[in-house]
Amino acid sequence: MFIAANWKMNLDKKSILEFTKSLQNFKFSNQINTCIFPPMTYTDYLYNLTNNLPISIGGQNCHFESFGAFTGEVSANFLKDTGCEYVLIGHSERRTLNNENNAEIKSRAETAINSSLKVILCVGENLTDREEGKALEQIEKQLNDCLPYNFNNSFIAYEPIWSIGTGKIPSAFEIQEMHTHIKKIVYRILNKNINVLYGGSVNVENINSIIEINNVDGVLVGGASLKAKDFLAIYSAAVKHLNISS
Ligand code: PGA
Repeated sequence: MFIAANWKMNLDKKSILEFTKSLQNFKFSNQINTCIFPPMTYTDYLYNLTNNLPISIGGQNCHFESFGAFTGEVSANFLKDTGCEYVLIGHSERRTLNNENNAEIKSRAETAINSSLKVILCVGENLTDREEGKALEQIEKQLNDCLPYNFNNSFIAYEPIWSIGTGKIPSAFEIQEMHTHIKKIVYRILNKNINVLYGGSVNVENINSIIEINNVDGVLVGGASLKAKDFLAIYSAAVKHLNISS
């Protein structure tokens, strides 16, 4: 089970220090992998503050070139260098606000993996596609276009765009149907089984019903991961779920 926390452009140095203080006496479980994606400027800082804890650090994006004249971009090598083990690629905010297309996302993922980062590749349909019954087809296209050949030790995050930050989540049936669909497509393309995380308005109230859905291997949490108390409550729900189902 994987719990990922995407902080987006939130939490400054002082808030990060407060957050990590709250983690120090918490009893982490070896059944859960967890990764925090802080703002890029703080990967190093968070890495050092969580050195003694079983928490991985990730970058929120990386460029498809390793170095060069790309002002404002971040190299996968630099993420690695500042303690990152993971990187988010193709988040819908990057796709929509920064015009990253499928081809570019594929190159970013490929470069990240070649730099020994583990990728969480995000896919998700918009509300119109969902309402018109085209969600499965839309995700299949994204996977066909974005999955790099070297997709090792990496995950897919299913994040319906209409669910991010809105408090709306798909039904349990829709999540299970989509996760099963994603696993089948990735198996067809790469001949390997992968884990699929659900993301979009995951919070303390709905975590129990989401993690018990078949083929949900973890969650990618945005807003609800900004407070240590909520992040730990979500983490604890996952531990409890594993203990009940084992
Ligand atoms: P949210 O964001 O949990 O705030 O909906 C999830 C994400 O964008 O990764």
